[in-house]
Amino acid sequence: MRTFTEAQAYAQQSLSRLGRPNAINEARWLIEQLRRDFALPADENILTRPAQSRLQNWLQRLQADEPFQYVLGNVDFFALTLLVGPGVLIPRPETELLVEEAITAYPGTGAICDLCTGSGAVALALAHALPAAQVIGIDLSEQALYWAQRNLCSLQLANVSFYQGDLLHSLTPGRRFSLLTANPPYVAQQEYTQLPAVIRKYEPRLALEAGHDGLDIIRRIAHEAKPYLLPDATLLLEIGSEQGSEVLQILSAAGYEDCSISKDYAQLDRIAKARYKQ
Ligand SMILES: C[S@@+](CC[C@H](N)C(=O)[O-])C[C@H]1O[C@@H](n2cnc3c(N)ncnc32)[C@H](O)[C@@H]1O
Repeated sequence: MRTFTEAQAYAQQSLSRLGRPNAINEARWLIEQLRRDFALPADENILTRPAQSRLQNWLQRLQADEPFQYVLGNVDFFALTLLVGPGVLIPRPETELLVEEAITAYPGTGAICDLCTGSGAVALALAHALPAAQVIGIDLSEQALYWAQRNLCSLQLANVSFYQGDLLHSLTPGRRFSLLTANPPYVAQQEYTQLPAVIRKYEPRLALEAGHDGLDIIRRIAHEAKPYLLPDATLLLEIGSEQGSEVLQILSAAGYEDCSISKDYAQLDRIAKARYKQ
């Protein structure tokens, strides 16, 4: 394996042997990443030893079932390339709907808070799409915030900052937002045990599981967010596909108005929206 051409063929073969249905594209993405990592132009075909060993290491990690995005080191999300790795949830395509709805709901003034920010995916996508808005992202996990900060450095957005905290507890009282988003953990305890082994092995449990019915964090957000919302602020939450009616009840009982659920591309309940009039 002395050239990139040979390396791509070798990677494709190894990935096919692992039974990966997307082996052709995955091999190409690995090789493109290798070129970027070693700053090698597209017309350079000689594979250096360090590049060879990195590719071998990636293939070994994939053999051990590590998620492809962790091995590659990044994932595309809402027109941004985000850095990801062990310790942070890999942003999912359905979360792009949360961003779309948030962009539509943003009233044009006031700050935005993204709770449970993880890699910073939602906060960074909003800061990028709404350059006049100030965005803050909060997460409890130090490891997740490591990735959010790395993403902030790589994307160089001046209108976003990240904080560590348990939901809004780390904020100074008196801070108010016109839009609050969250893709919180929402998997029920029992359901968590049935998630694919690769997710349970590699992605943080803190990012996924939220009590006996998966609604622990959503209930907390519905109540704890209220003192931090400006009059008429919008709350947007990503939810589990079977949680729509319960989440509507939680939001109405907590005093929110105009509560609604929108569906994702698979026609499953996915985003809860509510207004807090005060
Ligand atoms: C489903 S992940 C979402 C990550 C990111 N927003 C995304 O969409 O890719 C949920 C995140 O919530 C964080 N989290 C869990 N409990 C929290 C809490 N009490 N306060 C703040 N963040 C919390 C986890 O660390 C994790 O990063």
